[in-house]
Amino acid sequence: MRVIQVGGGFWGSGWARVIHEFPETELAAVVDLNDAALAQTCDPISLPANRRFSVLEDALANVQADAALVVVPPEVHVDVATACLEAGLDILVEKPFAPSVEEAAKIVERADALGRTVMVTQSFRFKRGPQTVRRLIDEGAVGAIEQVDVRFAKAPVFGGFREEMDEPLIVDMAIHHFDFLRGILGLEPVRVRATSFNPSWSWFGGNASAFAQFETEGGAARVSYSGSWVSRSRETTWDGSWEIQGTEGSIVWEHNRVEYRPHNFGLTVYRKDALERGDGVMDVPLVQLPAEERAGTLHEFVSANREGRAPQASGEDNLRSLALVFGAVESTRTGDWVDIGVPALTARS
Ligand SMILES: NC(=O)c1ccc[n+]([C@@H]2O[C@H](COP(=O)([O-])OP(=O)(O)OC[C@H]3O[C@@H](n4cnc5c(N)ncnc54)[C@H](O)[C@@H]3O)[C@@H](O)[C@H]2O)c1
Repeated sequence: MRVIQVGGGFWGSGWARVIHEFPETELAAVVDLNDAALAQTCDPISLPANRRFSVLEDALANVQADAALVVVPPEVHVDVATACLEAGLDILVEKPFAPSVEEAAKIVERADALGRTVMVTQSFRFKRGPQTVRRLIDEGAVGAIEQVDVRFAKAPVFGGFREEMDEPLIVDMAIHHFDFLRGILGLEPVRVRATSFNPSWSWFGGNASAFAQFETEGGAARVSYSGSWVSRSRETTWDGSWEIQGTEGSIVWEHNRVEYRPHNFGLTVYRKDALERGDGVMDVPLVQLPAEERAGTLHEFVSANREGRAPQASGEDNLRSLALVFGAVESTRTGDWVDIGVPALTARS
């Protein structure tokens, strides 16, 4: 698969290397408005000068490609993604997909009409920790999930667009964690309530910390989320620390370790692939994956394309994760619970 990558900044420089090294993709071109970013991304992989572009339209007109990776700041995702779709390319677009669910839905509809694929790079899904948790849940080890507690704490200094956003934590970061609720835990929240704030020591212009609560239909499962991008306390991994309690058992997932506590003590003696640690706790080794994180995302994109199916984290699927994000943002303003709504897509071709 020949891929045009649009955006060669902080995240794009790593992406170019992933596409360059991945066995089933070829980096057809890199586009960036900024010459220094273009050099930073293309020099380490010796991308020839005739495959480096400052203007997207020039790349689309001069390079043969099958797909585009959109890794520009969120406020330009829609314009770039739409131009690539209209040029006949499948698209892999970075999170957060679009500045609103409605704008994201328009891209999904247009891609359907053109017969093209849209996948959002919820790259966190494609890691060993979350996939281990997902396997346990899919095997019924937890039963029906009723309570989830999530804590996220990091203190990165990025500069750039994140420090200008009104809600950087919820919109640019928590999208990964909210997406885990759906893509890993299999929950579909229908209501959210959130508050956000900016600690006095924050270097972000907008709110770098937030609390959120989610409920699934009828309150069957309840989730509490606490996040900070300016943490002065113990840091979690980027995935966050998770406690998941259900009718059959519970999972503690933190720092890439997965512990399982079955409610039925008899089950702690033997569970395939797990080891008893005492006190009713089992250590669950991480699953192995053919490719991980961005390479895992690419693997899913290429595999789905080859198999003629929708990829996990498709554009359409992502509308619901995005709705959790913008529902949470709305709640920070109204102070009320917000019902999660996703616009009905118009007739599909
Ligand atoms: N999946 C993840 O874990 C993850 C991690 C980091 C960033 N991201 C996402 O990746 C995206 C990019 O983030 P970043 O940190 O690399 O941002 P960045 O600001 O460092 O880089 C963006 C680059 O895009 C270029 N650009 C802007 N508009 C352009 C246009 N119209 N055409 C061509 N180039 C253009 C800029 O010159 C810049 O070099 C964001 O959506 C961000 O949320 C995802």
